[in-house]
Amino acid sequence: MQADSSRTALPIWQSLVRHCAEVRQSHLRDVIARDPKRFETFSLEASGILLDYTRQRVTRETVSLLLDLARTVDLPEKIAALLGGNIVNNTEHRPALHTALRRPVGDPAGANLNANGRNVMPAVLEEREKLEHFVQAVHSGKIAGTGAQAPFDTVVNIGIGGSDLGPLMASEALTAYRRPDMRVHFVSNIDGCQLSDVLAQANPATTLFIICSKTFTTLETMTNARAARQWIVEKLGSAAPGRHFAAVSTNHKAMDEFGIGERMRFTMWDWVGGRYSVWSSIGLALALAVGVEHFRAFLAGAHEMDTHFAEAPLEENLPVLMGMLGVWNRSFLDMHTLAVLPYDQRLHRFPAYLQQLEMESNGKRVTRSGRLVDYATGPIVWGEPGSNAQHSFFQMMHQGTVRPAVDFLAPVHGSCGRQAQHDLALANCFAQAEAFMAGMPAAQLREELQGAGMTPEDAAALALHRAHPGNRPSQILLFARLDPRTLGSLIALYEHKVYVQSVIWDINPFDQWGVELGKKLAGQLAPAVADPEAGAAKHKGVAGLLRYVARWRD
Ligand code: F6P
Repeated sequence: MQADSSRTALPIWQSLVRHCAEVRQSHLRDVIARDPKRFETFSLEASGILLDYTRQRVTRETVSLLLDLARTVDLPEKIAALLGGNIVNNTEHRPALHTALRRPVGDPAGANLNANGRNVMPAVLEEREKLEHFVQAVHSGKIAGTGAQAPFDTVVNIGIGGSDLGPLMASEALTAYRRPDMRVHFVSNIDGCQLSDVLAQANPATTLFIICSKTFTTLETMTNARAARQWIVEKLGSAAPGRHFAAVSTNHKAMDEFGIGERMRFTMWDWVGGRYSVWSSIGLALALAVGVEHFRAFLAGAHEMDTHFAEAPLEENLPVLMGMLGVWNRSFLDMHTLAVLPYDQRLHRFPAYLQQLEMESNGKRVTRSGRLVDYATGPIVWGEPGSNAQHSFFQMMHQGTVRPAVDFLAPVHGSCGRQAQHDLALANCFAQAEAFMAGMPAAQLREELQGAGMTPEDAAALALHRAHPGNRPSQILLFARLDPRTLGSLIALYEHKVYVQSVIWDINPFDQWGVELGKKLAGQLAPAVADPEAGAAKHKGVAGLLRYVARWRD
């Protein structure tokens, strides 16, 4: 395959390469010390989210060059194309209209949005209304299980990837907004452990399962769904599944075959990617957990960010800026990974959510026109709540040989009411950002150790181990509180950031061909694992493993 140098050959790309060599000469500590107005220049607020990027390895010139790059590759036109319903998913010939899903009812400006020549908004709003009615009917007990004396009090979402991570992450994040009369569980793993755990504590009579699958063919989801249906049949009889199973899918034939009736089924469209689908009826479990009003606020927060993304000039556009800073870190400063560190336990699944959003979208190496890139694309995204991470992997982040870029996220108000404790979390967040930036030079440590009575030789030796090089870039996303609206804005911010980066890297962020091969091979290997003796003869590559499976299964 031919390499594509249409990006790297751009004069602006080359200017950034030269500029990067200059930036690498200076230490962030000195850059920041020289610029007392740095926060005013390198911070931006939109939709209730403040981005403090003072600790990124950038100067005013860096930002200006990055925005020139964005203009050179027609980013404003590409944003308009996304939001206007153009075919931005070129390998599947589809628009990507997740923003339609959060347009408010009665917004004259947003009443029309065409995908493939048809206005999608009437169907979107009709579907949203159906979801809201369903949620209210479940909460009021109008929709209840077979012969149940009480309304549903347990929802089990069965789905994987985008049909799991969004509703799961958001219902964890919004724990403070959850209804006390509704427990929500998520089952994704094919191995059956999550399902067993959930079924062990659920009352079948008051449990509603939601099968979430855009395709309704995903092996993990369909395996868990069939096992759950069997459990309901065993507990409540063969007529019960019709009342205990709802489903969300584009595949109506498969929902028919599973026995999902009209009232219990929800739809989505091929122009919604799985990882962008929490705003659709895939968010049903979330809506059941937090109620209609909070779900609406969640959509409204995302819509506010969409409006900002559509209207703000590039230099004041939060997703654009965040996207370009990510491009700078990955493609110029050569930072391979992005650590996402929320200082709020309620965001504990946010890094996992972003892993799919970012890596399934921008984990590509072929340009839109089918050539190999000759630059780095999406980083490895990982992370944990910062408080815990400080006591596990921060050691490496401060002193190791791998240097991740860092996104800190923190609300000012704690999510659990223990403000004094949350303030300590916030102090730790800021302290870590400062420590990554400034580090601690060996010379200073040497002096301190000698001052404390150590010999010069011992002080010099120990200082080497204790020194923190610093110069490790990070940014902080600060917001007042983790409420439904802010969470909506935050997710939309990252979605748009990912799109901005895809435009710069000239890749299609809306397909995911890279997951297909493994799925296909798993289908071929399933019979071999079921009958390992026979399978070993057929599948040479894993024959040794299959023989162990056979031996240890007995
Ligand atoms: O395997 C990847 C993937 O296709 C994701 O993109 C998607 O979110 C997930 O599987 C689940 O797919 P579905 O909703 O069709 O079950």
